[in-house]
Amino acid sequence: MKIVKTIPELQKARKELQGSVGFVPTMGALHHGHVSLIQKSLNENEHTIVSIFVNPTQFLAHEDLSKYPRKPEADIKICELAGIAILFMPDVDTMYCPLEPTLLAPSSKAYILEGFSRPGHFDGVLRVVLKLFNLTKPTRAYFGKKDAQQLYLIQNMVKTLFLDLEIIPCEIIREDDGLALSSRNVYLNHEQRKQALLLSKSLKIATRCVMAGGRDVEPIKAEMLSTLSSLHVEYVEILNRDFDTLSSIEIGNSIILVCAKVGTTRLIDNLWI
Ligand code: PAJ
Repeated sequence: MKIVKTIPELQKARKELQGSVGFVPTMGALHHGHVSLIQKSLNENEHTIVSIFVNPTQFLAHEDLSKYPRKPEADIKICELAGIAILFMPDVDTMYCPLEPTLLAPSSKAYILEGFSRPGHFDGVLRVVLKLFNLTKPTRAYFGKKDAQQLYLIQNMVKTLFLDLEIIPCEIIREDDGLALSSRNVYLNHEQRKQALLLSKSLKIATRCVMAGGRDVEPIKAEMLSTLSSLHVEYVEILNRDFDTLSSIEIGNSIILVCAKVGTTRLIDNLWI
């Protein structure tokens, strides 16, 4: 595995790779969710590139970038053991220049849900992901369904900017009790960890409603909200795969999304049905 930090180093290492290349962009503090993306890329491509970059442009001014969990040594070990070809770990100055054109995510899809409480977040995500695609020139890039809105906006960017790569959506990895893995779970204490289970529980309840034939969105949302009543809920939404609102669930084309704060930690989860 080559660990590269600069653009010339990355470009040189990339040129040496022949055949298909899978790319997994991350912000590090790697957990089994990230590892599942890396494994899928290793299975489906001749080479895999992983990036670790805590991207400042996707954090809002009041969000504490310096508090984002960082575990470079453990991350390097994980990538080495997995058997990837290149690990790209750039500095902020390597990735950004004060004079550069910026990219704006389509506002009707990027300023709702996550983007409503984090306006501009997805502009920063698309900005860095486009740069990373240009640098790594992947055949395929791997993104978790856990960040469903991010996945949608990246698929939309690839399609509308005619980028020559395939986006591979990857299943959400959960703890045995249902909690979706997230770098933010480290912020939860024992009691909050229990409360956090309400997010996946509310999705299970929604599944049960759908299995029982329920299709109307509003009563299902109401059931979920009552399950989540002890938390500070930011949103519960049922949308189609293009992130448009629905009055009735369409099986195979719907996503149920939930976001709630447990203490000060904002957690998201979702279910594709
Ligand atoms: P990060 O939060 O590190 O996530 C990297 C990738 O791991 C994303 O595609 C995310 O959806 C996926 N992931 C996280 N938790 C997961 C889980 N429990 N199961 C499956 N996949 C999971 O998302 C970002 O970084 C950044 O926004 C990035 C795309 C790297 C741009 O900076």
